[in-house]
Amino acid sequence: MKHMVSMLDFTPRELAGLIERAAQSKAGDSAALRRALSGRVLVAVFFNPSLRTRVSFELAMKRFGGDAVVLSVGRDAWKIETRDGVVMDGEASEHVREAAAVLSRYGDLLAVRSFARLHSEDEDARDEVVRSFARHASVPVVNMESAMEHPCQGLADWLTMCEQLGQTLERRFVLRWAPHVKPLPRAVPHSAVLAAAAAGMHVTIACPPGYELHPAILDRAATWCAAAGARLDVVHDPQPACREADVVYVKSWGAPRFYGEPDAQRADFERYRDWMLTRDDLGSQTKLMHCLPVRRNVVIADDALDDPRCVVADQAENRMWVQAAVLARLSEE
Ligand code: CP
Repeated sequence: MKHMVSMLDFTPRELAGLIERAAQSKAGDSAALRRALSGRVLVAVFFNPSLRTRVSFELAMKRFGGDAVVLSVGRDAWKIETRDGVVMDGEASEHVREAAAVLSRYGDLLAVRSFARLHSEDEDARDEVVRSFARHASVPVVNMESAMEHPCQGLADWLTMCEQLGQTLERRFVLRWAPHVKPLPRAVPHSAVLAAAAAGMHVTIACPPGYELHPAILDRAATWCAAAGARLDVVHDPQPACREADVVYVKSWGAPRFYGEPDAQRADFERYRDWMLTRDDLGSQTKLMHCLPVRRNVVIADDALDDPRCVVADQAENRMWVQAAVLARLSEE
């Protein structure tokens, strides 16, 4: 049984197969997805809020003859403990061992969203919540954004780049850090970089010093880039890299050295306020991407988000198509 917890568990060729399948179904050839998903039920468990993920997963099932049940932990479902061997005398009434086992009896697939806590880089790297569901479930588990990765977002971004650029090999992808009002996790930038690397693009990560991505992600992305004859670079100046790029992917994330220090993180965001992307930062052919939600005029200026080079709605739509391909693939294992 295969899960989609991490893109690192797949080869670039396997990931490209999912993109191909999603593109086929989007073009109208969806018989294979219907065969795989018809009559199947997804149980989607949310520890954090969502707009796109919730709707696109539900519709990925319903559009192809399946169904979905959505649970919000702590709101319409019990709080869930994921640590083993603890005395459960706190707020959690349910352990993941029972929750994952029981939900596996009801559904054919499980999906889990649980963000990074941003307390400790090591804790976040263990990705305990989604991995504990995968350990204790008896059906395939899909990551709907965990502490470390947002693989379905990365796949949707890849499909969007294929559509926008025609082909991705050796095209130029820039991930540009942006300031924010609060620290955000690195799951989306991790998956965006892995997707671009798997797609054979030249990858440049433009971020202030101290905002580097997790070394395990950088290592794998560099390996995938090299295998395709492409480069991976990290630069600390946003401007030149962006004007030359085929794609600029803007995203904010917090620096691990400020975890637990909100005032210091806020001051650093203020220091780098001019990293907010404006229309003038883009080349004439550059596509602008962001996973959404986005804070206008903090992360990206109105003039860039409202520019025809901005493809954020395509990215959001493609979530549904790639997720249907992922859910079908896992159903067929
Ligand atoms: N991009 C994304 O995952 O959006 P939501 O948080 O709204 O699901």
